[in-house]
Amino acid sequence: MLPERATTADYNAIIHSLGDYWGERDARALHHPMFVHEFGDTALVIRDGSGLVLAYLFGFVSPSRVGHIHVIGVRIDHQRLGLGRQLYGEFERLARERGAVALKAISRLANETSIVFHRSLGMSDTEVADYSGAGQARVVFRRELS
Ligand SMILES: CC(C)(COP(=O)(O)OP(=O)(O)OC[C@H]1O[C@@H](n2cnc3c(N)ncnc32)[C@H](O)[C@@H]1OP(=O)(O)O)[C@@H](O)C(=O)NCCC(=O)NCCS
Repeated sequence: MLPERATTADYNAIIHSLGDYWGERDARALHHPMFVHEFGDTALVIRDGSGLVLAYLFGFVSPSRVGHIHVIGVRIDHQRLGLGRQLYGEFERLARERGAVALKAISRLANETSIVFHRSLGMSDTEVADYSGAGQARVVFRRELS
């Protein structure tokens, strides 16, 4: 099972079953369709043999040449099997091809799994006050690409 480019059918399937990846958290706002329609060449999925999306990553390379991982989700019953790490590896490859000099991602302070995951991928993290508006601090992860 290798990461592949996400299709609009994948996107539709993902947003109709967000709870399978995110549990109780309402993550709809993170899943704007532009990530498939406009940034589709850096929108990735890993499917099982039947086409079910096990994991996905939506990102883009910014004009300042930073590869932004906007959102990543792995089915709850497939977490901790290396799928998230695999998606990051493929995104990094695509970002480098597009001239990226660093990778960046954002998490809520309460998302401990995300924080541990990003640290395990060698990203440094900084808490940024008001990142998402007044009183909305976020953890900002970054790793330089040599
Ligand atoms: C965060 C998330 C994407 C990680 O994906 P994953 O496929 O489960 O992660 P991996 O199996 O690739 O884990 C890589 C490493 O991260 C760390 N890690 C991941 N999940 C962990 C957990 N629950 N507890 C502790 N360490 C964890 C480990 O170091 C792991 O390596 P190891 O298994 O060899 O010890 C997944 O938990 C998820 O989809 N969560 C819900 C959505 C979310 O919060 N997304 C992130 C914010 S956008």
